[in-house]
Amino acid sequence: MSERKRVTLPTLFEKAAGGEPITFLTCYDYPTGYFQEQAGVDMILVGDSLGMTMLGYDSTLPVTMDDMIRHSQAVRRGSPNAFLVGDMPYMSYQPSVESAIRNAGRFMAEAGCDGIKLEGGVEMADRIAGIVKAGIPAMGHLGLTPQSVSALGGYRLQGKGALQAKKIVDDAKALEEAGAFGILLEMVPDRVAQIITERAQGCFIMSLGSGPHVHGQLLIYHDMFGLYPKFKPRMAKVFGNAGEVILQGLQQYVKEVGDKTFPAREHYFGIKDEEYEELLELLD
Ligand code: KIV
Repeated sequence: MSERKRVTLPTLFEKAAGGEPITFLTCYDYPTGYFQEQAGVDMILVGDSLGMTMLGYDSTLPVTMDDMIRHSQAVRRGSPNAFLVGDMPYMSYQPSVESAIRNAGRFMAEAGCDGIKLEGGVEMADRIAGIVKAGIPAMGHLGLTPQSVSALGGYRLQGKGALQAKKIVDDAKALEEAGAFGILLEMVPDRVAQIITERAQGCFIMSLGSGPHVHGQLLIYHDMFGLYPKFKPRMAKVFGNAGEVILQGLQQYVKEVGDKTFPAREHYFGIKDEEYEELLELLD
C-alpha cells in the first residue's frame, strides 16, 4: 500500500501557490483508486460521468446519490490518501440550499470524501455558500457543465464569444466569493481560463480541456486509456490503450475456451488418488 501522506487542502493550496501543477483524475472503482494512489495523483473526482463510463447511460442525468455514494466508497477504499471529491449528481443540489447541504453531507459521512463538486455559476453560489458554512469543502464547475447539456445545446466549447466569456469570468468570481476552494473549467478557451486563474485569490483553478494557464489538470480516466467506446473527446490525451488490450484478451479467451487450450493443467486443481478412490467407493 502507498506510504504517502494524506493530501489536504493546505497541500493543494501550497502546490498552487508554488506554481506546481495539481493532478486530478476521475475514478469510479476500487482497483483504479488503488492504481491512482500508487501513481501519486493529488485529487480524485468520483464524477457523475460514471453514469456514462460505468453504467452506460447516454448522459449523466439518471445518476443517483446512492450510485455516487457506492462508487465513492469503493474509490476511497482503494485510495486512502488522495483528496477525494464527490460529484453531486443531477437534482441533488438544484432544488434548494437545504438539499445541497444534506447531500453534500452524505459524501462526507458515508463515503469519506474530502469535499464535493457541483455545476453552475452565480445561480448556484448560495448552494456553495451553504455547503461551505456547513464545514464541507466545495468546488465549482463552469464552462461545459454536462448536467445542463440540453440547455447548452450539446457537448461543445463554452465562452467562445466575449459576452459568454465575461459571464464565465463573473461566475468564477461569484463562486470564489461564496467560498469555493477550487473551480473546474471544462472546455473554456485557454485565454479565458488564464484570466480567471490570474484573478483567483482564494481558490485554485483546474482545467479540463481549458489549457495550461491554470493551477492543475483534470482528465476523465476512461478517455485516457481507451475505455469508453462511444467517443473520445479532442481534449483527452490517450496515455495507453487499455481498451484494445482488454478486447484482444477477451478475443483470445473466447478462442482458447473454444479450441480447449484453456484451461491448461496449471489452471485447475486435483484430488489425491486415495481420496478419489474413497469418493468412488462412497458413491457406489
Ligand atoms: O462527472 C465528471 O466526471 C465531471 C467531469 C466531466 C469534470 O464532472
